[in-house]
Amino acid sequence: MKIAIMGAMQEEIEPLLAKIGEYEKVRYAKNDYYLAKYKNFELVIAYSKIGKVFATLTATTMIEKFGAKKLLFSGVAGAINPELKIGDLIAATQLCQHDLDITAFGHPYGYVPEGAVCIKSDTNLRKIAKTVADEKSIALKEGTIATGDQFVADVARKEWIEKTFDADALEMEGASVAVVCDSLDVPFFILRAISDSADMDAGFNFDTFLESSAKQSADFIISMLDHM
Ligand code: ADE
Repeated sequence: MKIAIMGAMQEEIEPLLAKIGEYEKVRYAKNDYYLAKYKNFELVIAYSKIGKVFATLTATTMIEKFGAKKLLFSGVAGAINPELKIGDLIAATQLCQHDLDITAFGHPYGYVPEGAVCIKSDTNLRKIAKTVADEKSIALKEGTIATGDQFVADVARKEWIEKTFDADALEMEGASVAVVCDSLDVPFFILRAISDSADMDAGFNFDTFLESSAKQSADFIISMLDHM
């Protein structure tokens, strides 16, 4: 079975490529896709570039062109829930788009007709994540992740997202990947390690902790493959 492992930034997939060691690079749609074997799996690994549009393109390509049957996302996020500290891991139970707004027509934030405010991730993949977390004594949190085309470095915006979507963390790709996978019936799992708290220090903390947090997430994803 072919599994897609996706990140948004090079730093988010670099630890995966380092661990896997041997791969073939295929250029497609102005992006690089890395094809590899790991245990009994074929893998397609890529980073999309930041934001919902690029993430949608990459997730769709991994499924439609490269034939991925499951998709795992690895990366970093800003914490909303104060229990989440830098380096902590959160697995999305569901994802929503915090910047999607046609409330002028009486719809709730995050909703467009024939869509849904939140999309749930695959329960089997989340179970595997729990097993890995138990085995490694990692406190894996589960919760709602809110996605938007904004780097949030503002407490008022963060509080609005928390209040509106009851979200625990925020980032810039997950919900678009969820829309793609849900539409194409591909089970998906979105894991994020906290790099910042989406407050006025977020830019500095993101730059400081991107690499270490991205590695926490990538290492966990590799352990999941060992259990699949
Ligand atoms: N990813 C990591 N931190 C983030 C933030 N503060 N806003 C949006 N995406 C992020």
